[in-house]
Amino acid sequence: MAIQLTPLPYSTNALEPVISEHALMTHYSEHYKNYIARLNDLIPDTIYEDLSLKDIVLRSGKKIQWEHEVKIFNNADQAWNHSFFWNCLTPARNMRPSEYLVKKINDNFGSLNNFIEVFILKANELFGSGWLWLALSKTGGLEIISGRNDENPLAAGFTPIFVVDLWEHAYYLDYHSKRTEYVQNIWQIINWSFVHAELVKAEKHLQAKRTPKHAFQRLPFYFRRKWVGSDRTFIKRRRTSVASGSIIGAGIGALLFFFLASLVSMQVLPLPGLVLSTGINHGAVLFVGVFLGILLGAACGALVGIGTPMPLPPKHSH
Ligand SMILES: [Fe+2]
Repeated sequence: MAIQLTPLPYSTNALEPVISEHALMTHYSEHYKNYIARLNDLIPDTIYEDLSLKDIVLRSGKKIQWEHEVKIFNNADQAWNHSFFWNCLTPARNMRPSEYLVKKINDNFGSLNNFIEVFILKANELFGSGWLWLALSKTGGLEIISGRNDENPLAAGFTPIFVVDLWEHAYYLDYHSKRTEYVQNIWQIINWSFVHAELVKAEKHLQAKRTPKHAFQRLPFYFRRKWVGSDRTFIKRRRTSVASGSIIGAGIGALLFFFLASLVSMQVLPLPGLVLSTGINHGAVLFVGVFLGILLGAACGALVGIGTPMPLPPKHSH
């Protein structure tokens, strides 16, 4: 499933003079499109090919193990960040944030002006290229988060509600090295309705996650993700590992317990509490021993199968 471009929600000249048509065209049609194109070249025949863009970001960033995955992660991150960024801007000038958003910002940063001041300061402090995010934390607070290069706060459990692209390609054509001027001007074209909607959505999601019902419903998924994984290839491999562990364990258990049961039936190995009469059915002792051996061996083998570390190579390397 190819990852699709997010269409620009406005025309390419709609953000002028804050962002010129030339700068936006270059940004969208060259840089952004390239990230999507490269990602679509990288994911076929890998475990990421059927995932959504957000899931690719979350999954590939969790355990990067191959050079190929680093490339997937970098391009997916950049693709997702840009898709989000386009929606944070609007041709409307000087929109005002909603009362609810202002209250939330006041609660976390003192005032809207202070928030903007701190945001611009942090934009200046960010060394090199990157992104500056406003995100909702797991505890429900708002935080300004700097992301170097392609970093976004999703992996750390934050939910982004606003972002500014601080890569040179975002501003250099219009502002050259004056990044502060770009960040100062961008406040004229912030889509506060989008930011408000993202905040409400993020808070609802956070609220839903806090209910005991949700925790109970998520329990099987938690264990499945923890021990089995979340993608099909991984599940298949884990099933195979548990099945083969059970069969091998059952075989070893049967042999071991057959040996022990033989010793017990011959009274070489006395079993506490079990006094064997001369008329004992040796076959029954062996049968019970082997049966117990199969059960215990299979259980131990299955546990080993569940706990075995299992790296996930791509189906083929590019
Ligand atoms: Fe960009």
